[in-house]
Amino acid sequence: MINPLETIEAKKRGRELDGSAIADLVAGFTTGIVPEYQMAAFLMATWFRGMTPRETADLTGAMLRSGEQLDTSRLSGPTADKHSTGGVGDKVSLLLAPLAAACGLKVPMLSGRGLGHTGGTLDKLEAIPGYDIRLGNDAFLDIVERVGCAIIGQGPTIAPADGRIYALRDVTGTVDCVPLITASIMSKKLAAGPRTIVIDLKTGSGAFMRDLEQARLLARALVDVGRSYGRRMAVVFSDMDQPLGVAIGHANETLEAFAALRPGGRSRAPQDLVELTEQLTADMVRVAGLEATPESALAQVRAVWDDGRALAVLLDWVSAQGGRLEPGRDDFGLQSAPSVAEFTAAHEGWLQEVDCREIGLALADLGAARRRVDDALDLSAGLDYLVRVGDRVERGQPLLRVACRDRGRAVAAIERLARAVTVGREPVPARPLILGRLE
Ligand code: URA
Repeated sequence: MINPLETIEAKKRGRELDGSAIADLVAGFTTGIVPEYQMAAFLMATWFRGMTPRETADLTGAMLRSGEQLDTSRLSGPTADKHSTGGVGDKVSLLLAPLAAACGLKVPMLSGRGLGHTGGTLDKLEAIPGYDIRLGNDAFLDIVERVGCAIIGQGPTIAPADGRIYALRDVTGTVDCVPLITASIMSKKLAAGPRTIVIDLKTGSGAFMRDLEQARLLARALVDVGRSYGRRMAVVFSDMDQPLGVAIGHANETLEAFAALRPGGRSRAPQDLVELTEQLTADMVRVAGLEATPESALAQVRAVWDDGRALAVLLDWVSAQGGRLEPGRDDFGLQSAPSVAEFTAAHEGWLQEVDCREIGLALADLGAARRRVDDALDLSAGLDYLVRVGDRVERGQPLLRVACRDRGRAVAAIERLARAVTVGREPVPARPLILGRLE
């Protein structure tokens, strides 16, 4: 094993590391031979010196090999997945998985929980009575083969090195580092085995990456690493300067996503949610090779959306994972808290800006988002975001609606919303949702 001190010294002086030095360091750290203080020093040296694309790929590989990798070779169709860098109101996976499956893809998705102001797909799925997020790998892949998609939690056996390194980054000021973020995201995505990976890279006040320049660097690194492991990659840059769709929470987001797949749902659902979901799913279908052009891929996605095939896949998938939905009821049998308060415009004008991170934190005020990893959640509480940046608003018009079982919590959330929303006297343009692409 290469002495970790030599590896730290080399990185500190800006020398390119070879693959075996990186592999030894990660393996040593995962098995407890390399102590946290040495890994912390290495992470900080990397923060200052960066990594070449080859080093980033080697770091990703070392983290990937620290755990299990799913064998998707037994699946009978092309495999594809989508990863979002996270935001507020982002329920796209819940529609996209059945849509992509209805188009002929096999979609094995491993998802995470929300932390801080961003939500996680797993928490939204747990709002479905009976839904099991902890299937074994064989049962998981059986459902993907039979139904076309399945979504489970990314257990501790997937890239365990990432969990430990991420915890250390969190307390050493080394989270915001493109090669470290790249290795973290891609080690987990590669472990699930899909051949096509589409990334939804969000930027803005509710996103992990606040500016587009940093997002572009991250996108390049993600694409390069994915390709070096033989994956087909595409990145869509999308706006997270305001929540996606209307519902923000868990049961209410799940309901918004599922209702969108009902007959006629594509025209009734929030149009930003529809646009982003269509584009990301169409990219998966095209990049995986099922359709040749963006236009034909989009037409295919719309066809399976409108003729009910995606809804049929959704119901099969959820029931295969033990979920008890009641499709005959408007609310699918999901438990949402009653609306108890509204945040209204103090004067007329235009919605100029929202601090999307604060809106995510208002959800934590309602007990529906975690401040710490072990916080319990109220899956029934949530917010409705009723306007969009650029909209004209009248005095007294409701801008956000609060649903929860505890009025005291609603008051705290409304106080935060008052700081998060700016209504000004001057009009501002609506914000574009899709900001660019990289392939
Ligand atoms: N998401 C991850 O999974 N890892 C990071 O480092 C940042 C965002």
